[in-house]
Amino acid sequence: WVLMATGRTPTNIAVIKYWGKRDEALILPINDSISEISLLGGRFQSCLREIRKRARDFEDKEKGVKIKKEDWDKLHVHIASYNNFPTAAGLASSAAGLACFVFTLGKLMNVKEDYGELSSIARQGSGSACRSIYGGFVKWCMGEKDDGSDSIAVQLADETHWNDLVIIIAVVSSKQKETSSTSGMRDSVETSPLLQYRAQTVVPGRVLKMEEAIKNRDFESFAKLTCADSNQFHAVCLDTSPPIFYMNDTSHRIISLVEKWNHSEGTPQVAYTFDAGPNAVLIAQNRKTAAHFLQKLLYYFPPQDNDLSSYLVGDKSIL
Ligand code: DP6
Repeated sequence: WVLMATGRTPTNIAVIKYWGKRDEALILPINDSISEISLLGGRFQSCLREIRKRARDFEDKEKGVKIKKEDWDKLHVHIASYNNFPTAAGLASSAAGLACFVFTLGKLMNVKEDYGELSSIARQGSGSACRSIYGGFVKWCMGEKDDGSDSIAVQLADETHWNDLVIIIAVVSSKQKETSSTSGMRDSVETSPLLQYRAQTVVPGRVLKMEEAIKNRDFESFAKLTCADSNQFHAVCLDTSPPIFYMNDTSHRIISLVEKWNHSEGTPQVAYTFDAGPNAVLIAQNRKTAAHFLQKLLYYFPPQDNDLSSYLVGDKSIL
């Protein structure tokens, strides 16, 4: 007999970034972080171990299958996984993959833990993966305990809460990043004075304001906070020794374009955020703004001119 379980998890994009760990083994962060919008879309061993610990007896009378919890260890698991999101976009596809692995394995092994607890298992695979257990707007609460049991993700609002937003992803380069997030944040924790200031003084207030902006669908605050946090994260990377450069000239030109556009409109219409790479994640207030802005983006960055190509996530009829 064969038992099957399927699962589907979203990738996630941080609008308040996670950067820096206080425990490398358990993957415990030095600040809260918030991610948004579900784009449906190596460290599996510790996740597998944690799920196995929680496996339960299972019985399917129709199939005549009975598995004792201790027997899950002896069974072979075949995993088939695919991404419906361009991996080249470098957008937390590993976070989505790990979260999906934890979620689906939990389902298969009859694990009864709630989403919060599953998120803390996914976290042990990759920090940002814990936020992919949910869709919508998600907060990863850093927690205080040494064992990490309170370092879990919670959903702030589901995916229907603010569905006017449109995400445009400008793929600046599909090259593999030179410094992985794991080693980059380790170096920042060891060498960047700005990171300590950010985690202790800036992020706590910013997280509260971001929660408020999300609750009220206040795009102006949302955009200001998102852009400021992305810029501070990259400033921390520059403050690291040796400095880490995730953005390139094209990324910087995209930032200028958004800033000028927002300035000319009087209020922010588009937000930008960059993770540990040069690709831009642009969040527009609504379809109309997205269509307008995308035309401008394609005018200044024609795909045939350089290696920038744009993906519009979701509804492609926007143009
Ligand atoms: C810049 O979750 O990839 O995307 O915990 O070491 O696996 P590890 O790091 P990872 O770091 C993500 C960093 C970020 C910001 C974020 O997603 O919050």
